[in-house]
Amino acid sequence: MTCVAAVGDIHLDRDLAGHLRPALEIAATQANLLLVAGDLTRHGTLDEAEVVASELAGLTIPVVVVLGNHDYHSDQQDDVAKVLTDGGITVLERSSTVLDVGGVRLGVAGVKGFGGGFAGRCTSEFGEPETKAFARHGREAADALGYCLRSLDCDVRVALTHYSPIPETLVGEPLEIYPFLGSYHLAQAIDSAPTALAVHGHAHAGTERGLTPGGVKVRNVAHPVIRQAYSVYELDPADLPVPA
Ligand SMILES: [Fe+2]
Ligand SMILES: [Fe+2]
Repeated sequence: MTCVAAVGDIHLDRDLAGHLRPALEIAATQANLLLVAGDLTRHGTLDEAEVVASELAGLTIPVVVVLGNHDYHSDQQDDVAKVLTDGGITVLERSSTVLDVGGVRLGVAGVKGFGGGFAGRCTSEFGEPETKAFARHGREAADALGYCLRSLDCDVRVALTHYSPIPETLVGEPLEIYPFLGSYHLAQAIDSAPTALAVHGHAHAGTERGLTPGGVKVRNVAHPVIRQAYSVYELDPADLPVPA
């Protein structure tokens, strides 16, 4: 059985250096892979990225992450990603990786994603340029995720995002901010390939478990949601959604 450890929204800074590391070393004995679903830092500074790198680097299992909106705040997201990559961490953005874990080729496609909302309550590419740009950014991110998932040559697919693909894992958040927490386009992307698991963060007051309309398991692993250093999920090549 392939096991994935996952957490998001760890929001590290100097004052938290070293806090997660002991638990993550235990995770490395329980899982084949660690996924981190964005918001690694508080404000996306290089100082904070160094803390993240020292916390995540050198574990005995691969670490795959996407960035979150907080990691973009200082407009240094490319440099933040480089600090992490230099530490041996795989940073995905509109990209994918395939890892041989426990004899299984595990593919992970990752994108930060974006808001836009959900069916019946969503933005569209209409009206002012700013509105169209907002809606387009979310759609294009999801389109890239879908392409990456469908292109993977592997046994089991996992989708890793910061923003949520479904409203069910946002329950607990104010309804008024759902359009800033995720997009139905992400769920459509996930459902466009035989995806075994979708992991996201961002919604600190949300709910851990949900399903896409196509039946893919979704897990909101934001640290305040799972209330532990990480959660572990079992994956199996047979662990795929049943077509409707
Ligand atoms: Fe966050
Ligand atoms: Fe976030």
